[in-house]
Amino acid sequence: MENFEKKFEFDEAAIQLFKALEKENSQVKDCLIRSYKGLPVSLQMKEDSYNYFITHSIISLAIMANPGSSIITEILYDGLPSPSSLDNFILQSKSGKAIKSRLIAIEKEFPRIIEDYRNRNRGEVLIGNLGSGPGRDIINVLSTNYRNVSNVRAVNIDKDLVALRRGRRMAIVKGVDHLIDFVEGNFLKYKPNQKFDIILLVGILCPLKIEACINLLKVTRKLLKKEGCLLVSNVSKRMLEKDPFTYFLMSQVGNWKLVFKTEEELKQIYKKAGYNWKEYFTDSYGFHIIGVGSPRFYF
Ligand SMILES: C[S@@+](CC[C@H](N)C(=O)[O-])C[C@H]1O[C@@H](n2cnc3c(N)ncnc32)[C@H](O)[C@@H]1O
Repeated sequence: MENFEKKFEFDEAAIQLFKALEKENSQVKDCLIRSYKGLPVSLQMKEDSYNYFITHSIISLAIMANPGSSIITEILYDGLPSPSSLDNFILQSKSGKAIKSRLIAIEKEFPRIIEDYRNRNRGEVLIGNLGSGPGRDIINVLSTNYRNVSNVRAVNIDKDLVALRRGRRMAIVKGVDHLIDFVEGNFLKYKPNQKFDIILLVGILCPLKIEACINLLKVTRKLLKKEGCLLVSNVSKRMLEKDPFTYFLMSQVGNWKLVFKTEEELKQIYKKAGYNWKEYFTDSYGFHIIGVGSPRFYF
């Protein structure tokens, strides 16, 4: 084990995982290590490990069922009461923690962006949270900052009705359900009664190639007011550099494929989709870039 740790520079979370697996099922540990090293692994070993992941990890099970589900992000935001060693690894990994850190960064920066917008464009602010899942980010931002302000409102749109129902419960508990509409459907086909002032897209672009991102942002541009503002997150290449093992494990488990992008690539996506790039911020690990921009009038 020692040589292996040194060779691949595993972090503390991975070392703890290997120690736990050594006791629980050393074959799964061997399978993981051999696959990561690119060494041959028998089909039987692969199948046994796959079965172990299904039966010993809620997060892996959720990824296998649907890699794009907000169930996974919600578990990473909230944690688990008694996580298995596999789930504990995912929760304690840098990439796992960076997801919660992204939420914290958005909740910190978003009120400043809303206020900046309100100062420039007096009146109502309508936020579109596209692919919102339950919409915890918006619910938290509104309940902390705008609970008693009636002209900052939001629409959470998702194709997952169960996530939206959960979001509505969260909004009621936080006392902001009167400020948020929950709409079930494909946001690419959404026809709003009123265009949005601000659009938030978090956890949507990450699996998409650059051309697909450009096409998607061209669609969202039509949902945005001329002077509107677009916030979009994407996983950065830093995540892959600093925590390659977690990505390897997740991609093995559930075919979880991400397209890591640089700040410059995200900037180019904005430009090619017809937006001016204004600024960006990151989570505390620098694993997620959150761009901020507004539609260009002529392109
Ligand atoms: C990874 S989750 C992120 C949820 C939330 N934005 C967050 O950051 O916590 C992605 C969500 O986008 C939704 N989604 C993806 N594409 C969509 C589409 N075209 N229309 C509606 N919802 C979509 C999925 O159903 C899922 O709930």
